[in-house]
Amino acid sequence: MNRLLIVSIAATATIALTGIGLLATGGFSSPQGQSAAKSAPVRSTGVPNIGGPFSLVDHTGKAVTQADFEGRKTLVYFGFTFCPDVCPTALQVMAVALEELGEDADAITPVFITVDPERDDVETMAAYVNHFGDNFVGLTGTPEQIAATAKAYKVYFRKVEDPASSGGYTMDHSSVVYLMGEDGTFLANFTHETLPDRMAARLRQFL
Ligand code: NI
Repeated sequence: MNRLLIVSIAATATIALTGIGLLATGGFSSPQGQSAAKSAPVRSTGVPNIGGPFSLVDHTGKAVTQADFEGRKTLVYFGFTFCPDVCPTALQVMAVALEELGEDADAITPVFITVDPERDDVETMAAYVNHFGDNFVGLTGTPEQIAATAKAYKVYFRKVEDPASSGGYTMDHSSVVYLMGEDGTFLANFTHETLPDRMAARLRQFL
């Protein structure tokens, strides 16, 4: 309950911040970044700066990058397979929404990226994503690859001690479902609390 609340708050905060462009420009800025920004052209499209190049391993063990998804829309969610509630809910919402779209959903690939590469190896990811549908792609990688990808998507995650969980820890993480375009740019976002009908209706606007 507590964790659900924290995750919801984190998700809401992320959306609120990206919505007004704060994270897009200031989330990871450094003194160098600020001085560089003075001479750099100002981005004024209003599109949140979410996503970017990544290098990961899919649930079949194949090395993949963002280039492997070019030309396809993706519905991207970060979480972990040991998550007791929020992640399964988010992935179920994605699965139901895509099912509602019928054949139109072929244009959208659902992608689940783990924030817990320590436990979520290729085999674990394969078993997990298959539970939600044949079309789901699971992505894992080294802790460094995962951290870089999460940073690009402005996803917060943190290991938290939890004696009740396997390995003695759980993961706190923001819960945002991103719709990304064919060229990898951000189109829309949802949470695990979005109703499947609403998600399907919104996705349809981009098909
Ligand atoms: Ni989760």
